[in-house]
Amino acid sequence: MSKPIYLDYNATTPHDPEVIEAMRPFFEEEFGNPSSSHYYGTRPKQAVIAGREQIAALINCRPQEIIFTSGGTESNNFAIKGCAQSFDQKGNHIITSQIEHPAVLEVCNFLKTKGFEITCLPVDEFGQVGVSDVAAAIKKETILISIMHANNEVGTVQPIEEIGRLAKENDIVVHTDAAQSVGKITVDVQRLGVDLLSIAGHKAYAPKGVGALYIRRGLEPAKFMHGAGQEMAVRAGTENVLEIVGLGAACEIAGRDLEKNMQHMKAMRDRLYEALKINCDPVKLNGHPQKRLPNTLSISFLELEANRILDAIGSEVAASAGAACHSDTVQISEVLTAMKVPLEWAKGTLRLTTGRMTTAADIDKAVRVIGAAVKKLKTGG
Ligand SMILES: Cc1ncc(COP(=O)(O)O)c(C=O)c1O
Repeated sequence: MSKPIYLDYNATTPHDPEVIEAMRPFFEEEFGNPSSSHYYGTRPKQAVIAGREQIAALINCRPQEIIFTSGGTESNNFAIKGCAQSFDQKGNHIITSQIEHPAVLEVCNFLKTKGFEITCLPVDEFGQVGVSDVAAAIKKETILISIMHANNEVGTVQPIEEIGRLAKENDIVVHTDAAQSVGKITVDVQRLGVDLLSIAGHKAYAPKGVGALYIRRGLEPAKFMHGAGQEMAVRAGTENVLEIVGLGAACEIAGRDLEKNMQHMKAMRDRLYEALKINCDPVKLNGHPQKRLPNTLSISFLELEANRILDAIGSEVAASAGAACHSDTVQISEVLTAMKVPLEWAKGTLRLTTGRMTTAADIDKAVRVIGAAVKKLKTGG
């Protein structure tokens, strides 16, 4: 039996074969500790240096501004808690948005219990934060603005450049969670004007459990992990050399092939959307029609229940739901709720996300499978 077609690239990505090849020597031979001054430490140390350079080249910063972490969640924790702790003399106010990943929202909720005030901005019907809302929320106690670069559920890209400018004018630090945008669109920290940026390896064809945080030179969020002196003495612990090599290779590939990959993911995503529009009419597209990740399709089927669609297609297509329907309750995702997607649409929302490995044949089959399931569920089958 063949495996289901994978249309859940925003959940995680397969490992790129080039990433696996780059990592192989660090599985098989290069086991040394990069801090060791003898022979065995040499190549691991060089690999960590190279990995840092590869990430820096992708997002246009200096290698010394990159700290390796265990993934997007840790990078967000490090950025937000680190700033809260370092700048608490200046103020206790943080601005974020309702559509952030729990790896930001839960950090903010935690900080609330420590006396911080959190402003959680709403979004418009396309899932975009308003720059004027950010401006209106700023006050003299504001120490940090944390708004994601691109949303994981609907793919909407946020106006980070404008927010970055606004923050600079007001001398406020800006963090962006770029877990979903790295490798899918251009991510340039100079252009975005951010001070901190989170990266998650497994969303970009590297393994799970590795990530990075960009910290603009001169900014000093509080130390994240106490211990020995690794990672410029802010994040102690023997480096995860194997996965750092994987993340570095993934970032190099992401930069090298960005145009090609963007076009491919978009072509597959649009082929899927156009066909579903015809096959499953009426449907509703969620997220910004243009300012959206090229691979992301959040689509609602009127009066259907997402988990029933997923159950019907699960043996042939792997995707995610935007709502969880139980026997007598419907739990709509925070993002769709913040976008005020009407219940009759929201409850039947699927997130279908394409990737580098998606083929036109995959899409055509997915359309047939989803189309058949939707028709059957509509007719009460
Ligand atoms: C936008 C966003 N931020 C952060 C994370 C968490 O990243 P990680 O799984 O590497 O901890 C994810 C993963 O789903 C995400 O989509």
